[in-house]
Amino acid sequence: MSSSEPPLTLVLVGPMAAGKTSVGRKVARMLDVPFTDTDKRIAAAHGPIPEIFASRGEQHFRELERDAVATAVAEGGVISLGGGAVIDAGTRALLHRHPVVFLTVSAEAVERRIGGAGRPLLAGEENPVERWRNIFEQRRGWYEEVADLTVDTSRRPMRALAEQIAAWRRKQQ
Ligand code: S3P
Repeated sequence: MSSSEPPLTLVLVGPMAAGKTSVGRKVARMLDVPFTDTDKRIAAAHGPIPEIFASRGEQHFRELERDAVATAVAEGGVISLGGGAVIDAGTRALLHRHPVVFLTVSAEAVERRIGGAGRPLLAGEENPVERWRNIFEQRRGWYEEVADLTVDTSRRPMRALAEQIAAWRRKQQ
């Protein structure tokens, strides 16, 4: 990588628990570029995401998220977005200029992955997988709108998926 050129950019989108962070980190290592998780950036600057939702509301979080995405794509590297980033038209517009991978996952696989307290949109739900499914269906069209490649993460090892995505990205302009 020459120091005068920014690193290549690759953005990962998809529903909660699709593996965006773990696949993204591996792909970045394979491509030898920095990795950014916009949720982590937002939390580092503004505090835990559940608290942002509780104190300022989802719309405020989406604005912080749009700014974080704008900064991250300008810096380059592999960037994993939160599951709801595609809701925002301004964020989607930022993505149209970059290669975007949509990570899909089945509800069955998600059932094994979700847990913990970090996801305000699933917190307190009697049936979090059903809620997850509904949210995914509402957003599917937006993921498809921004995506250049779709990869299902339900069954294959994350490492194999990362290799496929890195190989695909190397072939893009
Ligand atoms: C959200 C997904 C979360 C996080 C926030 C909102 C969503 O990220 O950005 O809790 O609206 O789907 P993950 O997709 O990494 O869980």
